[in-house]
Amino acid sequence: MEESESSTKRVLFATPTPPVPELFPELETPVPVVDLDRLERNLDRAARYATEHQLALRPHIKTHKAPRLAAEQLRRGAVGLTCATPHEAEVMSEVADDILLAYPPVGALRARRIAALPEHVRLTVALDSATAVDDLATAARAVEREIQVYVELDLGMHRVGLPVVDDAITLARKIREAAPLRFGGIAFYPGHIRESVDSQDAKLETLRSSLAEALSRFDRAGLTPRAVSGGSTPTMWRTHELPRVTEFRPGTYIFNDRSTAEIGACEWNDCALTVLATVVSTAVPGQAVIDAGSKALGREPLRGAGGADEGFGSLLEHPEVVVKGMSEEHGLLDLSRTAWRPAVGERVRVVPNHVCIVVHLNDVVFGARGLAVETSWPVAARGRGYTASLGTAATIA
Ligand SMILES: Cc1ncc(COP(=O)(O)O)c(C=O)c1O
Repeated sequence: MEESESSTKRVLFATPTPPVPELFPELETPVPVVDLDRLERNLDRAARYATEHQLALRPHIKTHKAPRLAAEQLRRGAVGLTCATPHEAEVMSEVADDILLAYPPVGALRARRIAALPEHVRLTVALDSATAVDDLATAARAVEREIQVYVELDLGMHRVGLPVVDDAITLARKIREAAPLRFGGIAFYPGHIRESVDSQDAKLETLRSSLAEALSRFDRAGLTPRAVSGGSTPTMWRTHELPRVTEFRPGTYIFNDRSTAEIGACEWNDCALTVLATVVSTAVPGQAVIDAGSKALGREPLRGAGGADEGFGSLLEHPEVVVKGMSEEHGLLDLSRTAWRPAVGERVRVVPNHVCIVVHLNDVVFGARGLAVETSWPVAARGRGYTASLGTAATIA
């Protein structure tokens, strides 16, 4: 009896692995850390591809939401930025003078906020409805601002965009009649193509032929689009194969993530942003618990290659170890496929499934070169930028 008790204690209190050097001891966890060498490599690679194929790169900043990183994209030749929200566009106007809002400008408040962007910004908006044209035109007229408009086509994603080309042509004609709006071209988002890069051929072929058909119909209608705006991270290296695309709008490529690596759109060592986390418990056999839960990683499924049971992220140094479950502040690492046994207090780096959500969950991102923290920047365009100005009640209840 005594003996078995003491052997249990030995197992419970044994140190499973020798201590490893602590990662970034100066940072509290959980926290996003960007490997600056990888970041720069990702930026340079995209810029090179754009130059090589004479494509305008208009990165979507929803991934990083940081003017400092947008400035790096522009410095490397990006023609302008893409934003989704008015707040993103407002914040990015600090560093950019050419912005595409790739989101329907529906509603008077949203449209007014867009039209009120600083005057130095050459503004383009993508939309797909007569209501959006009316809302934007009203706001633009009120401030006498010219706004270029792209008609959004649905070329397979089935989210926004007109699926019937004749309807898109009708909308383009309406825009032409709605000065100070100006018809500038068409936009589409190939977000439905998320499979492994080796298996994208069939969908890309369908996209190619739908786009070619739409373009020739616009030509015949006397509405030849000057700009054709498309592009995503999973398809970015094949943008040049699409007919007459003038600009592409990848966002995720700046950091990459587990989903991007799984489909082969980047290598594992191109994943620039990880969530630094601390192992806080190994009490339950077969797992370790880290301090990064859904409020640090987001509850995002592995997109593209994986399935619902693929977890919510995996470890940079041990990709076979996935975050199999989460509470708000707890992440459960599945140790069933590894011989690695972490100690309580050990630090790990999680490559998230979907990096854009992780960034949005944080106020600050740190930048490191190797194991040295070098810098940090605010996620300045996160949130909506609303001010709590309505109501003067002294108490809530
Ligand atoms: C309209 C639009 N364009 C471009 C992008 C960038 O795509 P990705 O994150 O795959 O680079 C997105 C992503 O959500 C988008 O919604």
